[in-house]
Amino acid sequence: MNTMLWAVLPYAVLIVLVGGTIWRYHYDKFGWTTRSSQLYESRLLRIGSPLFHYGLLFVVAGHVVGLLIPQSWTDAVGIGEHTYHVAAASLGIVAALMTLVGIALLIRRRRTTGPVFLATTRNDKLMYVFLAGTIVAGTAATLWNTVGDHEHNYRESISPWFRSLSWFRPKTELMADVPITFQVHIVVAILLFALFPFTRLVHAFSAPLGYLFRPYVVYRSRDPRSPGSTTPQRGWERVDS
Ligand code: HEM
Repeated sequence: MNTMLWAVLPYAVLIVLVGGTIWRYHYDKFGWTTRSSQLYESRLLRIGSPLFHYGLLFVVAGHVVGLLIPQSWTDAVGIGEHTYHVAAASLGIVAALMTLVGIALLIRRRRTTGPVFLATTRNDKLMYVFLAGTIVAGTAATLWNTVGDHEHNYRESISPWFRSLSWFRPKTELMADVPITFQVHIVVAILLFALFPFTRLVHAFSAPLGYLFRPYVVYRSRDPRSPGSTTPQRGWERVDS
């Protein structure tokens, strides 16, 4: 079971993720979209969408630090385990609540606004279950790890296991004693990645980052003297040369 969950499943999902994304790009280039529903409803979207997306950006940043940076590195620069845990948990909970409230608003809107619900594909509905499940389970795991005296230092188990996947020598034994809350979070997250290519989540791969760096689009008001902007006069228009 350990090998199945922490070695076979991650690689199988990686193949589906990469293969599925290439397949989708090849065969459904014009369906590669967020399937925006802003035209149908924008009041709830205006609050839910930024809450969810900014919250998720912080959550992703937290995962990069927590999973990819070895504990020995933070120890070396004088950040002890306790300080790290307090900082990660407090920032993590703020980010988690933003993401959670955001996704709750977005799912409520999608379910209760008729045209938005009708524009939701079957795959997207399934994806929302896994997306919400991953966020709820991650938040629950973080909260459970923070209250009471059952703190689990995931930087000695989950993080080295996660990194070991990159060099194809998965240290599955590190995951055996991880609390079930974290295990559920990770398995649901892995399955979410398998759904990724077949849903509207593909839009994350084409976030318009170019917008941040492209030159400004310059808008100018019409020159009041240019032809056509004033009531046409009889006779020749004067041209300054
Ligand atoms: C296999 C991939 C993943 C692993 C190994 C993983 C692992 C973890 C760990 C160790 C924590 C606890 C962090 C802490 O207490 O400081 C956590 C929390 C959390 N995770 Fe994940 N996670 C994964 C994927 C995801 C994905 C895809 C999402 C969202 C779509 C997500 C959402 C969350 C949330 C909302 C929290 C609580 C807030 C936070 O601490 O950032 N996770 N995850």
